[in-house]
Amino acid sequence: MEADGEARTFSAAAIERALAALGHPGVPISFAMATASTNDDARRARDAVHGSVFVADAQHQGRGRQGRGWHSPAGENLYLSMVWRPALEPDALAPLALVAGLAVADAVDHCLGASRARIKWPNDVEVDGRKIAGILVEATTQQGSAPFVVTGVGLNVLSTTFPPPLAARATSLALAAAKELDRATVAARVVVSLTEREAAFRHAGLASLIAELGARDSLRGRRVRIGALSGTATGVDAQGRLVVRDDRGVSHSLHSGEVETVATP
Ligand code: BTN
Repeated sequence: MEADGEARTFSAAAIERALAALGHPGVPISFAMATASTNDDARRARDAVHGSVFVADAQHQGRGRQGRGWHSPAGENLYLSMVWRPALEPDALAPLALVAGLAVADAVDHCLGASRARIKWPNDVEVDGRKIAGILVEATTQQGSAPFVVTGVGLNVLSTTFPPPLAARATSLALAAAKELDRATVAARVVVSLTEREAAFRHAGLASLIAELGARDSLRGRRVRIGALSGTATGVDAQGRLVVRDDRGVSHSLHSGEVETVATP
């Protein structure tokens, strides 16, 4: 469903123009028609300044969390990685996936013209209960220098069909908005939101974002299973941990894990 013109105009120059129109000129952008993974491109660029962006039209080894792949066909979606060099201690970096999730949710809402994006802890963005975006944060820390963080965003923009098993649980901006969108404009929105949310987190911590995270929490009140633990998700705490109340009423705060939603018994 993508117009040929859009494919031709998805380029560094088109994203730069869209960023300038949003009042954010001067972002360093590296663009590739095809690459293995924009996260790998960013991780190799050890001299990249804070805020540098790596984008590709297609990835042939797109990576998701837990060693999974990321469906990355050409001409359809957004594969974008941003370099952050926050002056933070390594143990303060854990909430960055949630911070990025909030940023992507902002951008999705902007594109859809309504508040529809929800965050499924720890790193998925959903619309209408289906995954529209995933986030992969990879950090390298070195004593005496700021951490080198690569935040990768895969956002489904123009895809209208997905291979199994994604077909049952994925969506895109085109499906949710029932209209085509320009990927350069979407990329610029994502870059601006990532920049603003990371800065807010660095200056004021997660406390400044926790109310918004709560409002977008797609798990709150739902039955979940994480490994051996089953219970009800009750929210995300001030450290960005998922809180789950088990069937004996005991609350558990989880740093990480793969959350499965389950039917109420
Ligand atoms: C997930 O939901 O498991 C995270 C998916 C992250 C995918 C993005 S696409 C851009 C960047 N490059 C990658 O190889 N992965 C991330």
